[in-house]
Parts: sequence; C-alpha cells; structure tokens
Amino acid sequence: MNPILVRPADMERITTAALAEKYIEEQISLLREQIGDKKVLLALSGGVDSSVVAALLIKAVGRQLVCVHVNHGLLRKGEPEQVIKVFRDEMNADLVYVDAVDRFLDKLAGVTDPEQKRKIIGKEFIDVFAEEARKLDGIEFLAQGTIWPDILESEAGIKAHHNAGGLPEDMKFELVEPVRILFKDEVRMVGKALGLPDNMVFRQPFPGPGLGVRCPGAITRDRLEAVRESDAILREEFAKNGLEGKVWQYFTVVPDFKSTGIKNGKRTFDWPCIIRAINTTDVMEVTVEHLSNELIDHLVKRITTEVPGINRVLFDYTPKPPATVEYE
Ligand code: XMP
Repeated sequence: MNPILVRPADMERITTAALAEKYIEEQISLLREQIGDKKVLLALSGGVDSSVVAALLIKAVGRQLVCVHVNHGLLRKGEPEQVIKVFRDEMNADLVYVDAVDRFLDKLAGVTDPEQKRKIIGKEFIDVFAEEARKLDGIEFLAQGTIWPDILESEAGIKAHHNAGGLPEDMKFELVEPVRILFKDEVRMVGKALGLPDNMVFRQPFPGPGLGVRCPGAITRDRLEAVRESDAILREEFAKNGLEGKVWQYFTVVPDFKSTGIKNGKRTFDWPCIIRAINTTDVMEVTVEHLSNELIDHLVKRITTEVPGINRVLFDYTPKPPATVEYE
C-alpha cells in the first residue's frame, strides 16, 4: 500500500517548481516501491488530475502503466487528439484509445432527463472501461486522480467520492493515488514541473458528462457539433484576448429550440448559441465575467458565420444563485 494516505498537517504547500520537483522525486520512489514490476491501469480523460497521475506513473514505471482513453463523443474539440499526442507520441505511454462515440450517442438518443443522461454516461463509461480492463493481462493496480479536496468533501458528506466506484465486484485492484494529498493548485504545479502543456495543466473545470450537459434535452449529433464548434471558437478567442486562465469557466450551450433568421438573403430556422463566462472561488456562488463590446461583436460574427445551425448568439449574464453554472 502507498503509505501516504493523509496529508500531513505540517506539509508545505507546493508553490514553487523546486517543491514540485521534490514531490515528484518522492512519489517516483514510492510508486516504484508500491508497484514493483506489476502493471497499473488508469482511465485517462485528459483532465488535469488524470493527466498528472499518468505523467507521474510514466516517469516511475514507464510502460507498466496502461492508460485507457475513452472517447465518449462529449469531449471538447481537439481533446482526444491531444491525449494521444502528449501521452502516446511524446511520452511513449502504453495508451489504449477507445472510440466509443457511437455507443454513447446511441444510448443517449432521445433521452431528455438530465439525471438520466448523467446516469447513462456514467454507467456506459464504467462498462467500456471494464471491458477494456478485462482484455488486459496481469493488471494488479488501478491508478486514480483522487485529490485532497475529494477526500475532505467526501468526509464532510458534501460529495460522494466515487472515483473508484462502479467497477464490477470481481474486478479488485489495489489503488494507486499519487496526487491524493495535493490541492488542485499543487497538482497544477506538479503537472507543469512534469512538462505537461499549459493548456492541459491550467485548463478550466470541465464536467464529467462533458458537452452532454451543454446540449440540453435529447442530444443530437448535429446540435452536439454546434456546441463543440462554438466552444472551440470561444476558447480560441478567450486565449487570444488574454482571458484564458483569468476567467474561471466559459463555455457555450445550444438549446433545443429554433428561431427565424436570415443568411445570404434567405430565411433560416436555426438554433441560438448561448455564451456563459463566470468567475468564482468555491463554485457555490458565481459572478459573471462582463466581456468587452468588441469581443462580443467578434464572437457573434464568428459563431454565426462559422458554426452550422446557429443563427443567433445570446449572452447569459445570470449569477449563481439563482442560476447554476451548467444548464442541466
Ligand atoms: P453547477 O452547474 O452545479 O456547476 O453550478 C458547478 C461546477 O461543477 C461542474 N459540474 C460538474 N462536474 N460532473 C462534474 O464532474 C457533473 O455532473 C457536473 N455538473 C456540473 C460545473 O462545470 C461547474 O464547474
């Protein structure tokens, strides 16, 4: 067992590259001790926590780590490609890429209830991951991107800590949790010291059900594409305008209704695209980021001309409460 399960009360906050390097060196020897010559499995989403865990394990045990990246079709534009590029191409990871897009979208077809959508995505993810795990021989460990706030929140009864949950009863692995005692900002410091790209390490929060909750109601492939393309434009423009890393979270939503518009002298009947950009410290209360008029005009122009199916752009200027961050 990894001996460090609890954050020592006197542990210095990792705020510098030197402290991050020290943590990495310590973890590498602990991981080698725990894992020996056995194999470790990791569900690698490409989010901050699982990416840092992957990079640490690759440094410690190389190809004894098997990463499984499940593309459920609800990821942002370019994400699966980046996971393959960074981990398989640049770090020589043993990476299993699973294209499960049709499987997820077929299961979600016609499902309108938000909680039902979340359940389907969660269950299907476990099923796909378990199927891949069964194909592999000699796996004894399961690595997870559990971080210290997960432990604190689950102890306080705020959030069930279910990173581990869900795998079938007969699949018993010993857990490997090399960022378990770190706060999020420390995970980022460690990720940076490990050489992960900034847009992976400093990325904004992204919900587990992904773009699925930004395509309210029944998910269709065309509307999902409109969410993905408009989100990519928004992220590109925020990066260009120095807002990346400054604004807590920003995204687009394409609701399931249409309105009349006009394009090239012809009537259109298309969806609106809603832009939401918010700031917060604890996500219990959020305020809205007010964009400049120039940026608003530019976003409206780009999204209505470049994204098929969109003829209107709306801005959500509602704080939380009364609105939540996500739409469902
Ligand atoms: P809400 O909508 O509850 O969002 O105000 C607060 C924060 O949580 C994220 N979020 C989720 N994250 N699975 C996740 O992993 C989810 O189902 C989920 N729903 C919301 C949301 O993006 C925001 O940062």
